[in-house]
Amino acid sequence: MRKFESLHNQMVIGGVTAKELAERFGTPLYVTDEIAVRENFKRIQQAFSCHMPANIHYACKANSNLAILRILEREGSCIDAVSIWEVESCLMAGFKPNKILFTGVSVSDEEMKALVGRGVTINIDSPSQLIRLSKIGTDIPISVRVNPDVGAGHHEHVVTGSKMAKFGIPKGEVVRIYSEALGLGLRPVGLHAHIGAGVQDVAPFVQVTEVLVSIARELETSLGLVLEFLDIGGGIGIPYRPEDKEMDVGLLAREVTSLIKSGCSARSVAVEPGRYIVADTTVLLTKVVDVKETPDRRFVGVDAGFNTLIRPSFYGSYHHVAVANKFGMPGEITYDVVGPICESGDFLARDRMLPRVAEGDIVAVYDAGAYGFTMSSQYNSRPRCAEVLVKDGNASIIRDRESLDDILRHQRMPSRLMV
Ligand SMILES: Cc1ncc(COP(=O)(O)O)c(C=O)c1O
Repeated sequence: MRKFESLHNQMVIGGVTAKELAERFGTPLYVTDEIAVRENFKRIQQAFSCHMPANIHYACKANSNLAILRILEREGSCIDAVSIWEVESCLMAGFKPNKILFTGVSVSDEEMKALVGRGVTINIDSPSQLIRLSKIGTDIPISVRVNPDVGAGHHEHVVTGSKMAKFGIPKGEVVRIYSEALGLGLRPVGLHAHIGAGVQDVAPFVQVTEVLVSIARELETSLGLVLEFLDIGGGIGIPYRPEDKEMDVGLLAREVTSLIKSGCSARSVAVEPGRYIVADTTVLLTKVVDVKETPDRRFVGVDAGFNTLIRPSFYGSYHHVAVANKFGMPGEITYDVVGPICESGDFLARDRMLPRVAEGDIVAVYDAGAYGFTMSSQYNSRPRCAEVLVKDGNASIIRDRESLDDILRHQRMPSRLMV
């Protein structure tokens, strides 16, 4: 877990105190440390590229703010995108089409036409998608998403590689699909799998690499096809709890690349981390608006709920919390930190020992940079919050706070209801 500096019991993020950020930009507020994004990217890029040519495809579903995309583009990242709108955002942030791999599921012909128009590589998820793509054009760079029957992850909703999951083409059918792709005039360049998200062990990544390598070898011997890349997907977990261990990315890279180099002739490895690059770079700051004690529980009511950060409610995920303006002070009382959404499932943290909390305090929710803002909503007609980027004591707004206008903008009142 990332360590934050404390200045007279004030939490400091990228050289600015949380209190100052909350006062200047309001709450709830996502605050991202630019240096941390760059460091995380460089660490994983270095881990893989010291063994063989490697491309890090940042999974931008984790955090698709244009400023974050731009930082990663400047660092040399490639992209894993899952919708044409993610592709458009990445192009707008400066990514070249040949750096983008589109991996969709249930992809429509309209979306594929737009993707072909943009010139990105398309990762095929089903036999039908392959045929439909070939009717749109030929000589299109493609890879195939294999369902490796290796699944892992922090919650059943995020296990994508098991054979019961909706993703990918069963491993036994993949060689035939490549042969068909060649016959249809498409240009296969890679092979891809993604096992799930929040994986803390190296072992499942080794297993999935073994599957990919054995398919790549078969493609070489039976079709004479040497692939440009083997893509092991994303899903590298991070330590959300203080006692969690960090994934040994050096070991992961060593094991994966040595299997590829010894087992087939694929020219490079691709990895698709989202969470690993952005999760710990960002805290969510939320103001205490109500403190309630009942005979059974003590509640800290804050202005962010599952509309702002859904992971605790949706996945039962743990996010570490601290009182940012009482930073480093000893815990005294056990609280539930709950939001303003009218559902009992609306909580950010449960049973947390915190210093005595007062209304007006600022709670910092850690590791909120991945699947935080991107999964937020306007539920209960609450505008989505602002995002800020901090670096060397400077803070810049990277997304404005929404207003009532943003909630109402697309709604229309039929004239017959106006009388
Ligand atoms: C195909 C694919 N690649 C990469 C990722 C990124 O996962 P993570 O953010 O856990 O690294 C996902 C997440 O859902 C995915 O579906």
